[in-house]
Amino acid sequence: MADGRDVETDDELEELLGFLRDARGFDFTGYKRSTLGRRIRKRMADAQVTSYADYRDRLETDADEFGALFNTILINVTSVFRDPDAWAFLQNEVVPEVLAQLGDDEEIRVWSAGCSSGEEAYSLAIMFAETLGLDEALHRVKIYGTDVDEEALREARAGLYPAKVLEPLAPELRDKYFEANGARFSFRSDLRRRVIFGRHDITRDAPISRLDLLVCRNTLMYFNVEAQTQIVDRFHFALRESGFLFLGKAELLLNDADRFDVVSMRQRIFRRRPGSQPTPYQPTGVKIRPGSATEVKTVARTRQVRDLVVDGAPTPMLAVDADGIVVL
Ligand SMILES: C[S@@+](CC[C@H](N)C(=O)[O-])C[C@H]1O[C@@H](n2cnc3c(N)ncnc32)[C@H](O)[C@@H]1O
Repeated sequence: MADGRDVETDDELEELLGFLRDARGFDFTGYKRSTLGRRIRKRMADAQVTSYADYRDRLETDADEFGALFNTILINVTSVFRDPDAWAFLQNEVVPEVLAQLGDDEEIRVWSAGCSSGEEAYSLAIMFAETLGLDEALHRVKIYGTDVDEEALREARAGLYPAKVLEPLAPELRDKYFEANGARFSFRSDLRRRVIFGRHDITRDAPISRLDLLVCRNTLMYFNVEAQTQIVDRFHFALRESGFLFLGKAELLLNDADRFDVVSMRQRIFRRRPGSQPTPYQPTGVKIRPGSATEVKTVARTRQVRDLVVDGAPTPMLAVDADGIVVL
């Protein structure tokens, strides 16, 4: 720029990220700098600001700008049954295995992490209902849909989509699972009750546990290698033995033969190896020495309390902390 103010160093970007974390509790430090820098600069250009420092001033004086920035960084693109061949593989090859390792009446626990506006979570509900039959799905399937983006979650909770969004669905499936509601379609309310949405940051918050299937697609790729490794540790913890992990097509080639078997590299589907030790979950910033008695006790106790609470409750539950973050 003519005024020379666009000469920015990485330090300035890091400073802005620190500000976002302190001001809004949103920690983008684990995100890949290339994508992040590009997106923030795009937002700065739209806001007609040329330096990170000036942009920080803007954020301090204009609270709405945070929303606009988060919308630009958190890319919410999604669709119903995104990558149909991967979903066909999941339904034909994986779901039968999930069912085979559970008793006839046992709950099926599924997590869509980074669910955006909910299409992925509802696709999972439809897939299980088609496989099990609606009655059995209503009785057994529990799907958690989580994201950091509150705005996307609001759409997910509403479960109300324009016809265009539902075009990838066969017409008979659309009519079976959605009801016309004005110009839009709402997901059928009985099955909707089996899908629980909540805010959850995959880089920081306690993972949902005892999962049969964990779906995290087109979300990991925004993180740097270190953050991805930590997230995969948590996912390993979250899965039951022999539980399945379904990643996005463009995502990392999970190369962790000690802990995961490859079910299909092409479709990015992996399976937690039986007997592989779970990596203990640790809240960010808390250091527990690996293998120490404290570590073993903390993990065992947390799990025990969680399992007792969840198993003892007559209704599906979600626990959030004072900041509205899903902790259980
Ligand atoms: C491209 S969308 C993917 C949506 C869906 N999983 C799919 O594949 O169609 C990426 C989603 O990841 C969410 N996301 C980004 N960072 C996240 C984080 N730290 N924790 C949870 N979700 C996150 C974004 O808000 C966005 O909704």
